[in-house]
Amino acid sequence: CLWVRNLRQKRRLPGPFAWPVVGNAMQLGQTPHTTFARLAKKYGSVYQIRLGRSDIVVLNGDKAIRQALIEHSTEFAGRPNFISFQSVGGGKSMTFTTYSKQWKMHRKIAQSTIRAFSSANSQTKAAFEQQIVAEAAELVEIFLKLSAGGQYFNPGHELTVAAANAICALCFGKRYGHNDAEFRALLEKVDQFGQTVGAGSLVDVMPWLQSFPNPVRSVFENFKTVNREFFSFIQSKVKEHRETFDPEVTRDMSDAIIGIIDRGDDREGLTPDHTEGTVSDLIGAGLDTVSAALSWMTLLLVKYPEIQTRLHTLMDQVVGPERLPSMQDRDNLAYLDAFIYETMRFTSFVPVTIPHCTTSDVTVDGLRIPKETVVFINQWSVNHDPLKWKDPHLFDPSRFLDENGSLDKDVTSRVMIFSLGKRRCIGDQVAKVEIFLFLSVLIHQCSLEKRPGEDLSLNSLYSLTLRPLDYKVTARLRGRQLKVKQ
Ligand code: HEM
Repeated sequence: CLWVRNLRQKRRLPGPFAWPVVGNAMQLGQTPHTTFARLAKKYGSVYQIRLGRSDIVVLNGDKAIRQALIEHSTEFAGRPNFISFQSVGGGKSMTFTTYSKQWKMHRKIAQSTIRAFSSANSQTKAAFEQQIVAEAAELVEIFLKLSAGGQYFNPGHELTVAAANAICALCFGKRYGHNDAEFRALLEKVDQFGQTVGAGSLVDVMPWLQSFPNPVRSVFENFKTVNREFFSFIQSKVKEHRETFDPEVTRDMSDAIIGIIDRGDDREGLTPDHTEGTVSDLIGAGLDTVSAALSWMTLLLVKYPEIQTRLHTLMDQVVGPERLPSMQDRDNLAYLDAFIYETMRFTSFVPVTIPHCTTSDVTVDGLRIPKETVVFINQWSVNHDPLKWKDPHLFDPSRFLDENGSLDKDVTSRVMIFSLGKRRCIGDQVAKVEIFLFLSVLIHQCSLEKRPGEDLSLNSLYSLTLRPLDYKVTARLRGRQLKVKQ
């Protein structure tokens, strides 16, 4: 009845006491996702915190997150109107724009472009996979060079360059190589991006932090510079594409997007500036995430040598020494897929999605959330829920295998790393193929080791993507080095 409904609508969201001015900012700690999960134990899966002047709802656990993102997909499809979001992609990003008719069209264009260059038909599929295998073989070459004479090196940066090359090849039909100084310098700064747009970043909720020198302001200043440099790199590449555009030949994703947005019919008012915005979305999203994934996987391979040995044995049985692995081997390499899923679950390297915002009043778990509320979605809490996972704090790829040693799809579908609903990642298939191929070529060709006696930390640096702390490895060639023509 009306009375009960009114009462329910008035129920305040539970949550911790918020201090004046800063709210709960000082309680987030080094790893806000674990803090959010801890608070969920006390306040329930849906609760409210305050950061600066923003009330923020935090969603935890599979049930509440699914209810919000699937059952109320439209109500949770917005993005907050943060100042940092406005400076991404020249202000024409799809990822950092709120829900609207224009956004829907923009997302559709980005989605169909990804499909056209990765999985549309068997030819594009093969070309895409071949490109990644070649990039992975190049990575092996670099790893071996850096390991000459038994040296140890930090693989993080080479993995970022490899991931960047993979997505640049799709977008621009061109890779930049590990020795391109300008490209490397640009990539060295990308991690500063996630520090600002990740959930819990303070500059958007405490704009006054910009008015005097402090660490948050300097991160934000760096963010603006990185965005400008990154965006001018994109602009110059799109400009080259416009100048050489031939409507008869679509060379790469940039051409495809130019063909649709610049030259196509009116698309809900999208302008040519949205072309650069879209390209920057695809490169930005495909870079930080895939390189974080590879960086964790390399660390876990050296941290757990018995797992690496099992993967080597499997690779020898399924692929053998005469050829490199391919996607056709996937069904026979179930333990490798299990290792990938377990890394996604265990590290949850995108622990909290990009912040969402409600587009209208909505009720989740009996609690009313008003329109235009910022919402954090804690994916980490889904992947570490002790009711869903046995010993969630242990790294154990076998949890994804069924009794026949095949990948258990019921278990893999419980991992949440690409989010759900209207804002779900549109690059998930591309990412999975990239990760699978990079990793299988690396494992096929190399044996990776840490310094004897060193105990590598599994602690992470928090941002939009979690990254491992710096670590070093050395690579040894297993058998014959197989090269691929680029
Ligand atoms: C958004 C995860 C790779 C394109 C997202 C989001 C997550 C995510 C969690 C935010 C969803 C939300 O806000 O609810 C990942 C992971 C990746 C990956 C874990 C790698 C392992 C990629 C790649 C591409 C891509 C390779 C492009 C080729 C995008 C785009 C969005 C997005 C365009 C924005 C969607 C929107 O706002 O509507 N991704 N992603 N991602 N991702 Fe990915």
